[in-house]
Amino acid sequence: MAGFQSLPGFREFYPEDFSRRQHIFRHWRKNASAFGFQEYDAPVLEPLELYKAKSGDEIEGQLFNFTDKGGRDVALRPEMTPTVCRLVGAKAGALKRPIKWFSIGEFYRYERAQKGRLRAFHQFNADIFGEPGPEAEIELIALLIQCLAGFGLTKDDFYVRLSDRDLWFFYLAALGFNDTQVPGILAAIDRFEKMGDDAFKGYAEAHGVLVPELKEKILAFLQIKTLPELETALAPCLTDKISQRIGEWRKVIAGLSAMGLGEFISVDLGVVRGLAYYTGFVFEAFDRKGDLRALAGGGRYNDLIKKLGYADLPAVGFAIGDVTTGLLLEQRGLTPTFVNAPDIYAVLGGEAERQAAFADIHALRAAGWRVDYPLKDVAFGKQFKTAAESGAKLALIYGGDELAKGVVKLRNMSDRTEQEIPRDQVLSVVRDFLSGR
Ligand code: HAM
Repeated sequence: MAGFQSLPGFREFYPEDFSRRQHIFRHWRKNASAFGFQEYDAPVLEPLELYKAKSGDEIEGQLFNFTDKGGRDVALRPEMTPTVCRLVGAKAGALKRPIKWFSIGEFYRYERAQKGRLRAFHQFNADIFGEPGPEAEIELIALLIQCLAGFGLTKDDFYVRLSDRDLWFFYLAALGFNDTQVPGILAAIDRFEKMGDDAFKGYAEAHGVLVPELKEKILAFLQIKTLPELETALAPCLTDKISQRIGEWRKVIAGLSAMGLGEFISVDLGVVRGLAYYTGFVFEAFDRKGDLRALAGGGRYNDLIKKLGYADLPAVGFAIGDVTTGLLLEQRGLTPTFVNAPDIYAVLGGEAERQAAFADIHALRAAGWRVDYPLKDVAFGKQFKTAAESGAKLALIYGGDELAKGVVKLRNMSDRTEQEIPRDQVLSVVRDFLSGR
């Protein structure tokens, strides 16, 4: 095989692919800005330590890490969350509240490449810092929905599964589990969808067999699909904490429903999220058909900034991936067609005409119009063919006869009509033509 190939799980973006990617980024950026989020960026290479024990075992095992020439242990970022916590933590006192930030960047995880999963992918991250209440969740989940719905996807295409690690902690405590057992149960719940009963094997090895009656209660909790069902399930073990939590659930659901987004939300306690730092509400977006891996994931992580050595600042956020989003848009026929047409094609008689045309070509480009012309001398007929094939709206013809008369011929490419315009009026006539006046 000739030459070199890219590494497995890394993508190359030829112009057509790149324009699709830009289409996705453009929508994300537009929606984030409409929601009042500010854009930031940060390094792709970070100290390894930032992810150790912060992101969780799964991500730690997927790190692209190495020792640099200065002997530092470093890793390509697998996610943005620890980094953005550092940024916000370092300036927390000086930042105006609410702190609503977003970014678009590339991330790296040494995963087994499969449909929707690569080793280099992009994420749109949006996070709110300093807001302890569920108002922040409403804002973020609404943004997440809009970031997908903005492409033309509807409630029949995707939905957001809303869950709560706090409620699991409170419920498992009420069932009699202690703090050392709870993480094992949550890990089993995380795996349950994929592995079924085998998911509980790890827990059994560490803590002994799970009493069937308790297991049934856990599995029943997993079946809950609505807020009233959740309230009923919790009624027998109501504590102050659980009552308060239910109040917060009501607020989130009511807020999103008031925005007209209720039908995108599904109560689903099967989502507990693999990342180690989540503390409260957690959520994931999926396609309705269930063909694809998660489109997005996020939740509250109130302790992470403090764990990194900064202030005690509550935080909540999510990330959408570009790979599954792109696949879903393709499946639904919502990928934009690749348009690569100039506004104007300049047809040039010969070298003298080329020189004469350059002043106009440059002035038109400087005014923001996209202008193409042949880089080499080509017969007139061929140039007209190229102009037609390019999709240009108009052609400017710089022939010897025209220049001798001090004019340029403007051809409307859609109806083939032509008019002569004085050389010194090219810019204004083209502007009027292209802006439809
Ligand atoms: P995550 O669930 O690990 O969360 O990733 C979020 C999204 O990124 C996934 O739903 C998926 O679309 C995409 N993604 C993740 N890994 C890959 C991969 N190997 N290939 C393609 N796409 C992938 C986080 O990263 C959290 N840091 C999100 C967050 C922000 N939580 C709070 N703020």
